[in-house]
Amino acid sequence: MSNSPELITDLTQLAQWVQAQSDDGLSVGLVPTMGALHAGHLSLVKSAAQQSDVVLVTIFVNPTQFAADEDLQQYPRDLEGDLQRLQSVAKVTVFAPTVTDIYPSGKSPATNIESNELDDVATRWEGEQRPGHFLGVTTIVHKLFTLTKPQIAFFGRKDYQQLRVIEQLNEEHRHNIKIVGCPIVREEDGLAMSSRNAYLTAAQRTQATAIYKGLQTACSMANNMEMAATELQEVVQKQLGNAEINRIDYVAVVHPKSLEPLVLLDRTEQIKQIKLGAIILVAVFVGNTRLIDNIYIPPINP
Ligand code: PAJ
Repeated sequence: MSNSPELITDLTQLAQWVQAQSDDGLSVGLVPTMGALHAGHLSLVKSAAQQSDVVLVTIFVNPTQFAADEDLQQYPRDLEGDLQRLQSVAKVTVFAPTVTDIYPSGKSPATNIESNELDDVATRWEGEQRPGHFLGVTTIVHKLFTLTKPQIAFFGRKDYQQLRVIEQLNEEHRHNIKIVGCPIVREEDGLAMSSRNAYLTAAQRTQATAIYKGLQTACSMANNMEMAATELQEVVQKQLGNAEINRIDYVAVVHPKSLEPLVLLDRTEQIKQIKLGAIILVAVFVGNTRLIDNIYIPPINP
């Protein structure tokens, strides 16, 4: 097993590191995280190690993406543990800045992405349920892209809308970074891995398995017959209801690029036109813990 990864905590050190990689002609793969790393994060790090010369994992619990009533204070922080978990992957350097390094003038005036820069991809679903969230996400990711100058950056499809929003940010701001969307890593019973799963009690943890079960049921039904989007939504909602998950922010069948809701998921008509297939997005509360997940419905072969 290799040693603990190099840890960079200040901006001067980071700038030197970035310059050194560039001088040596090494490609940088960036993996932005908020820490409390689990196998989902590590899969991104492993992909980065395969596809770039060096890997920079950032660990920063970004205050601007949390609303006042959300779990910023409670959010799990474990830098020591994270460094240990990263030991198994070679070529990794960790950048864990302080809040004042990232936001020198305080939280709100530091936002340098304006809401009108984000289009419909950012305003629906998570954007609607968590006002200001994507403003915070794009602000930090924009800063990280600018500070770390990666050639390639890795994000999980677990946060599917976030991935789309970041692809758009990359285009709008001409960062010219290759954005790679990595598959969702799940627990054995299908629950998508998330740092927030740690908040669940044993009973809630069992309840939460209904999310992926519902998505899988809907996906296999969509693969076998023509269905209205509402029918698919009802399948997921029913499974959630059976598990007594009653606080549902949304269950939506959407276009994979625009994230616009689809009306009819008709294998013979619409999905043939939707060459990219469809995504079912879910956001629910299990107890006080908000969980999101999604599944991809591939297009039918002509
Ligand atoms: P965080 O929730 O820590 O997630 C960091 C990255 O890991 C994201 O790209 C996320 O999609 C990915 N990820 C999380 N769980 C995953 C899973 N089960 N399978 C695959 N990938 C998974 O997302 C954020 O942090 C922040 O918003 C951030 C982009 C770092 C900006 O602050």
